Amino acid sequence: MNISILAIETSCDDTSAAVIKDGIVLSNVIANQSVHEEYGGVVPELASRSHQQNIVPVVHKALAVANVSVSDISAIAYTRGPGLLGSLLVGASFAKGFSLAQSCPMIEVNHLHAHVLANFIRMQNETEPLPSFPFLCLLVSGGHTQIIVAHDFNKMNIIGSTIDDAAGEAFDKCAKVMGLPYPGGPHIDRYAQNGNPQAFTFGKPNIPDLNFSFSGLKTSFLYTLRKLVAENPEFISQNIHDLCASIQYSIVDILMHKLLQAVEQTGITEIVIGGGVAANSELRNTIQQQGKVRGWKTHIPPIAYTTDNAAMVAVAAYYTYFTEKFASHSISPKARYSLHEYFEFQHL
Ligand code: KG4
Ligand code: ZN
Repeated sequence: MNISILAIETSCDDTSAAVIKDGIVLSNVIANQSVHEEYGGVVPELASRSHQQNIVPVVHKALAVANVSVSDISAIAYTRGPGLLGSLLVGASFAKGFSLAQSCPMIEVNHLHAHVLANFIRMQNETEPLPSFPFLCLLVSGGHTQIIVAHDFNKMNIIGSTIDDAAGEAFDKCAKVMGLPYPGGPHIDRYAQNGNPQAFTFGKPNIPDLNFSFSGLKTSFLYTLRKLVAENPEFISQNIHDLCASIQYSIVDILMHKLLQAVEQTGITEIVIGGGVAANSELRNTIQQQGKVRGWKTHIPPIAYTTDNAAMVAVAAYYTYFTEKFASHSISPKARYSLHEYFEFQHL
């Protein structure tokens, strides 16, 4: 066959490039941007500037690790959206330049589609079974929280979404309240390892259907802490493990509640997870344990494929390549770009 695709991911604050050859990912290089840490969140202007600095060296490294030369590339793929516009523009412009210079087709990828298909990333010698269709995907990232029914690689329906904050945002905002660095999700996960998840309880959302809400939980967490810190200024540092374990438990509980409902409603028991929050150890353990108890077939991607990376963009592009839906050079990135809009645009 010999299809080699170079894929670029620049939707937020990670600059990444990957090479996929005949469905096998040969390289996945990621440059993280530490510049945002001191600001407690991603600064869009700084993110696009860092992407500009990183993109060429990251691509060079991805090609070198894969041992593939520029002339071997059959198509260039990039994330069109959703994400930060200035960041997306860097990847899109690079892809257009590459496509023109190499006279190869360009494939646009939806970031959320890529997070779902991260479960299909296969490096050489990896033999874990791939998910089979139809499956339910709990997609939990810094910007999105959705339950998706995947009927095929390019046929997916969203059956539940957050009506306010995303799960990752809930982690990050609660971490900020405790004075933890950005992004706070991994810090909460680490402190929670030695904490009691039942030490504190917070308000639970009561949202109909398969939709989620996290803003009430965040407010409940903030008010509880304000009161406790007013009584004891050292409260956070003295209780950091229990606080992290309790807020993590609450977030995972909200996610699991709706996932169970989705399984009941659809009858689908093939379950996958994706997005940065899928790196969370409590969520990973709970899904695996529930899967055993309830007879689900669960697929938990390696942690490296949960947060933003170009390998997932490469896999999504690989399965799109065969539909021959190549992108025109005149399309622009989209800061907001739902999965439905993407499939409609692609006529898939
Ligand atoms: O998918 P991602 O890399 O970027 C977006 O597309 O948004 O997700 C980033 C999110 C952040 O909110 C981060 O705090 C969260 O994933 N995250 C975690 C963990 N690792 C990353 N949240 C909880 N536990 C973790 N171990
Ligand atoms: Zn993401």
